[in-house]
Amino acid sequence: MSRAENTRERLGAMLWDARGEIVPGPELCGRLGISRQAVWKILNQLQREGFPVMIVSRRGYRLPVETKDCLHPLWLALAAQREGWHPVFSFHEEVSSTQQVAREFARSGAPSGTVVLAKRQTAGRGRRGRTWMSPPLGGIYMSVLMRPMLAPSQAPLLSLVAGLAVRDALQRTTGIESDLKWPNDLLVNGRKICGILTEASSDPDRILYAVTGMGINIDMTEEDVPDSLRSAVTSVRMLTGASTHQGWLVVAVLDAFATLVQALEQGKGSEIMKRYSKACATLGQDVRMVTDQEEISGWASGISAEGALLVETAKGLRAFSSADVVHASRVGE
Ligand code: BTN
Repeated sequence: MSRAENTRERLGAMLWDARGEIVPGPELCGRLGISRQAVWKILNQLQREGFPVMIVSRRGYRLPVETKDCLHPLWLALAAQREGWHPVFSFHEEVSSTQQVAREFARSGAPSGTVVLAKRQTAGRGRRGRTWMSPPLGGIYMSVLMRPMLAPSQAPLLSLVAGLAVRDALQRTTGIESDLKWPNDLLVNGRKICGILTEASSDPDRILYAVTGMGINIDMTEEDVPDSLRSAVTSVRMLTGASTHQGWLVVAVLDAFATLVQALEQGKGSEIMKRYSKACATLGQDVRMVTDQEEISGWASGISAEGALLVETAKGLRAFSSADVVHASRVGE
């Protein structure tokens, strides 16, 4: 980090710690050892970028407790930091895919906890080679780079716990109750509100890095969705008639995700899969499993400790680590 970036972050942190209060300019200058003019210049620039600092004439600077929606990387970093968890944000107006950008960061050595966010994607990627519709301002397009202490066979668990994290965060910040559809879709009344994709690079013993991408439909409207998908997709706006504070939603998702990944690293996979199973609408349903090799029907009976879906089929119990699932209610569509 350059010296200038460090000064911006320290200024931001001082205002964050005094949220709601006016901090006099001379106090900031004294603590940072820079001039009043330099403080003003940095905070004025941050304000122009969308960081919600208020410049209170002749009295100082104030960061409000309540802000309108904010995805400024410094605000997100301050709001998201916890003991042992200091995510670093990279925010873009437009990218091909946040997955691609995060993977490039990973290959050039970026730390665990690097988060790539974009307002729009020109080539959003979905599971199994599909594209992910990413209209401008339609929602949150985010990829999280982690370097978890997990075995390669545990990589699918990252998507499952990301699903749990988004579910919790949506509930807490918008009141929306969603169901998990194995492996990692979030549905409300059978319509998709969030899709998740994990791409990992591993050596034989451990995951070197994993990039978990989350697409959460926030402001997407019916008009944004092609006719063929209209009955399959929903968004926060379609469900509640309003948007939500995306910054706090991102912070809540990351907080829950980091906590769950840490629990996986501590060997609590079975415990977490029990939680996942309770929230998973796929279990107890007749399902059709679609993989590149086959299509097979059965009854979804459980989730293994490694996140595979257990399906009782005519040929016996099968464990699927990846597949598309068609739920009973939709079999035959
Ligand atoms: C799926 O349901 O097929 C998974 C969709 C994952 C979409 C997200 S949006 C952010 C990140 N960037 C991408 O290109 N894809 C993921």
